[in-house]
Amino acid sequence: MGPVISVAKKRISEYDFLKLNRKPSLIKKNVGIIGLGYVGLPLAVQAAEKGHQVTGIELSDSLISKVNLRESPFANDVRFGRALSKIHPQSLIATSNFSEIAKLDIVVICVPTPTTNNIPDLTYILSAAEKIADNLKPGQLIILESTVNPGVTRNNILPILEKKSGLKVGKDFYLAHCPERIDPGNKLWFVGNLNRVVGGISEECTARAVQFYSEIIDAKIIPLGSTEEAEFVKSWENSHRNVLIALANQAAIISDSMGMDINNILHGLQSKVDQFGLRLASPGIGPGGHCIPEDIHYVIRKARENGLDTRFLDGSADLNDSMYGYAVNEFEKLVVSDGNKLSNMTVGLLGLAYKENIEDARRSPALQVAEKLSLKSKRLILHDPLVDNVISNKIKLAKREEDLFTVLKKSNAIFVATAHSEYLELLTPENLVKFNVKYIYDGRNCLDKHGIIAAGVIYKGVGR
Ligand SMILES: NC(=O)c1ccc[n+]([C@@H]2O[C@H](COP(=O)([O-])OP(=O)(O)OC[C@H]3O[C@@H](n4cnc5c(N)ncnc54)[C@H](O)[C@@H]3O)[C@@H](O)[C@H]2O)c1
Repeated sequence: MGPVISVAKKRISEYDFLKLNRKPSLIKKNVGIIGLGYVGLPLAVQAAEKGHQVTGIELSDSLISKVNLRESPFANDVRFGRALSKIHPQSLIATSNFSEIAKLDIVVICVPTPTTNNIPDLTYILSAAEKIADNLKPGQLIILESTVNPGVTRNNILPILEKKSGLKVGKDFYLAHCPERIDPGNKLWFVGNLNRVVGGISEECTARAVQFYSEIIDAKIIPLGSTEEAEFVKSWENSHRNVLIALANQAAIISDSMGMDINNILHGLQSKVDQFGLRLASPGIGPGGHCIPEDIHYVIRKARENGLDTRFLDGSADLNDSMYGYAVNEFEKLVVSDGNKLSNMTVGLLGLAYKENIEDARRSPALQVAEKLSLKSKRLILHDPLVDNVISNKIKLAKREEDLFTVLKKSNAIFVATAHSEYLELLTPENLVKFNVKYIYDGRNCLDKHGIIAAGVIYKGVGR
């Protein structure tokens, strides 16, 4: 990465860090959260729970009324639903009125940062920055939580804020980046107990942001030397995960080509993990959501801008993005090897969410599996107990069933794309036999392979 201009010269000392993490007694502030999605709404509730006065600024009217009625948009997250319902009507107010920004002490940006054709799309954060700049007041602390490539807070957000308002960062207002690490569906780790990293434009910016998070989060708040360092930590931790998943997928493909079972290989590797602490991932039809498949492209983009060779990262992202196609081909081979054709089969696709037990199907590889299977099979039936809407024209002809057993009854072949608990519980060898399922492809290696084969159903998993 090229030189970064005017980054804070030294790290905040360990002494300051301890001092900053002493959890100073909270002075109630007016906190604004821009974007009330998977990241912003839990943060809004956390800040309100800890005693701040919170204003959520959102574009979606239906989300605004849900939040004000204390109805959780995350049906499956019981802990969050309970927390939201307990927030006093005056402590958290959702609105679409951006002029409220002028009344706030702290403004946190939590809007999407997707990629389009693997190119980071900054339009949402730039639009939020424009709205903040229109209402920026001296003394305010602005924090970007959305995931971005290194340099965006300083090079893209800061100029909008300074130019429009005429105010100077570090003197009149403060700007920092504190990337979110939330893991939707995770019952152990949530916004209130996740360690965070913070990087400010100046040390004062960092210190103010560290203070804010220390007051509301019961975990380590780590100050870094610059906004760029905090941005890189976030995009790199998800790139790291992408690469680990690619390693697992590559191992599964090799294992399969040699007639081995990847689960036995992982079992063997575990003995090394136990003594030496290797980090392993599980193979499958590929990572989804708005983090792991996308954030690696933020790093790739920045590295290429700096003239660096990104083949290693490109290869990882490409392999993961190709896994759904590999899996559908393996599924087809399974059927063909038994003298049948997918074009004669009614296929039940189980799971649309990108990971188990959540309702989020954004960038889900299950949707790509659905598109391919809708072209190859006689009939495709979709099922997901949690995902409400699927936005894909290409699979709109597929039928949706609500009841899992109806899907099993109507299908000759099953493709499992998401390891929802319902599937782990009900896709037993007995039920597959009972409903005459002939073939099953386990795209998440989550089923009882040996029991299913012993029951006479033809099974294949990813690399097993
Ligand atoms: N979802 C995750 O698991 C996760 C985890 C860590 C980081 N992140 C990052 O956090 C950011 C937000 O992700 P998310 O999953 O919460 O997105 P989301 O789509 O769930 O929510 C974003 C919300 O922002 C609103 N919005 C968009 N533009 C706006 C604007 N100009 N003003 C006000 N509201 C606006 C949208 O209506 C939406 O409700 C992204 O950068 C993402 O990469 C997400």
